[in-house]
Amino acid sequence: MARLKVIFDTDPGVDDAMALLLLARHPDVELIGVTSCFGNGSIDTTTRNALFLKQRFGFAAPVARGAAGPLVGDASEPPAFVHGDNGLGNIALPPITAVADPRPAAQLIVDLVRANPGQVTIIAVGRMTNLALALKLDPQIDALVKALVVMGGAFGRNGHTGNVTPVAEANIIGDPAAADIVFGARWPTTIVGLDVTMQSIMTAAYVEALARDAGEDGKFVAAITDFYANFYTSTGQTSDGLPVHDSSAVAYALHPEFFTVERGPVRVISGGIAHGQTILRPEKKFDHAADWNGRPSVNVCVGVDSAAFLAFYRETLTRS
Ligand code: RIB
Ligand code: CA
Repeated sequence: MARLKVIFDTDPGVDDAMALLLLARHPDVELIGVTSCFGNGSIDTTTRNALFLKQRFGFAAPVARGAAGPLVGDASEPPAFVHGDNGLGNIALPPITAVADPRPAAQLIVDLVRANPGQVTIIAVGRMTNLALALKLDPQIDALVKALVVMGGAFGRNGHTGNVTPVAEANIIGDPAAADIVFGARWPTTIVGLDVTMQSIMTAAYVEALARDAGEDGKFVAAITDFYANFYTSTGQTSDGLPVHDSSAVAYALHPEFFTVERGPVRVISGGIAHGQTILRPEKKFDHAADWNGRPSVNVCVGVDSAAFLAFYRETLTRS
């Protein structure tokens, strides 16, 4: 069976690094490109981290530097209180010898999709600025992408509405205009939001077992997640451990059967107190809301078999 060709668009970021490790180690994945975006750090920081992860995990895919800020306005201050000052839980980093691809991220995305028409799955786990810029460069590429899986947004299912404001999730509020463009394009899209990512928790015992059983990879996950888990427990968002945001999007790409979805067009609010809110119009529900008309239906994940997902993550790292 042909392996899944994946472009990973990311703002590493602790949970981004965990997701990239899953992609790098999974035998059914052919990682063909990694693109950085501002978000969990400045673009200098997230690009440096992506290059560090390339040399640490040993993958061959090019890493291209992406957007430094949103389509409209300025980037907000990176959340060092979540991911640490260096974006990777403040672990010590070695000298970085890997070098970035000369192309900007949006150009690399266009080139890889054009070179592999109908074959590429894009997994986007940061602001969607690079994808919106790729669409601007080449407005036809959405029809050439096999699938787009996004970690972002929150739809109020399972009690999850936002993690930056009461209605907005970080990847979406970081560039709502880009997200609205991306969710309106023709690529077959699945949104993996807080509704499901907050349901899958790696407890301290889970991480300890990874550190024990998954070699250097397990020890690495334990090292980078220490600071991150402390953020979630100290703010009362979890009683033990960390939610597994970005790896949930990777899991969907490989095992959609772990998830249940609702379908319909999604809009993203820009401006006002609901800035960054994602709103699904369910396909089967009648209403008069013209602002959703003419937009493609997307999958919105509303349920997850978190035990199966967490077992999948563990098995992928322990058998590689
Ligand atoms: O809201 C969670 C998302 O925001 C994750 O992608 C995390 O890495 C941050 O970017
Ligand atoms: Ca991320």
